[in-house]
Amino acid sequence: MRLDKFVADAAQLTRSAARGLIAKGRVTVNGQVCRKADCALKEGDSVCADGKPLACEEYVYIMLNKPAGVVSASTDGRDKTVVDLVGGAFPRRQLFPAGRLDKTSTGFVLLTDDGAFAHDILAPKRHVPKTYRVVLDTPLTNAMRVGFAAGVTLADGQTLAPAEVAPAGADPCVVRVTLHQGVYHQIKRMFGVLDAGVNQLHRTAIGGLALDEGLAPGAWRLITPEEKALIQAGGEG
Ligand code: URA
Repeated sequence: MRLDKFVADAAQLTRSAARGLIAKGRVTVNGQVCRKADCALKEGDSVCADGKPLACEEYVYIMLNKPAGVVSASTDGRDKTVVDLVGGAFPRRQLFPAGRLDKTSTGFVLLTDDGAFAHDILAPKRHVPKTYRVVLDTPLTNAMRVGFAAGVTLADGQTLAPAEVAPAGADPCVVRVTLHQGVYHQIKRMFGVLDAGVNQLHRTAIGGLALDEGLAPGAWRLITPEEKALIQAGGEG
């Protein structure tokens, strides 16, 4: 495929806007600036515009390391959203976060425009696990381990599915939590019932896909098809 057609399709620009981008030296092919609109791309070539990878796929799947203070929404009248952090690179796509993280929480948020995929991985019956690194205001206790494994009953009477909590290193206040369902403020409420407060909450994995440690807070990258399959492989049924 010609470079200008690829850029136009991937960035959802007109062909002339794509040519303008190329002429300005804002497009690279395999890391080299390419100013030739008719450059013929080969299978596996990697094309970037302004340093961001372009994908000519039907849907996009993005791994974002959400910083604190940003809300998990597409638009918000007051706060910056996770889509604001990446949307400029995909101006014509209707991106949304597949699952939420609280405003104060950090870590892996999956952004996509593929509603069927999001629905699949969020479906309660799929139990796609989500893993978090949590800093508590008190050391992990056996009562917490047993309570999580049995299924915590929240203050409103709702009994949650069994979850796992385990030490995440030498510090007894730092734990790894794995959830198999998504309830509003779930981890904070679960520890609240067990008389512990959450000081920090960072999502480290969705299904079998871990957050890329190389992504600084606010940074993102596209997910490969193999990584997408790892997310789905983490669930049941
Ligand atoms: N549980 C919470 O309490 N907050 C999150 O952001 C995610 C899980």
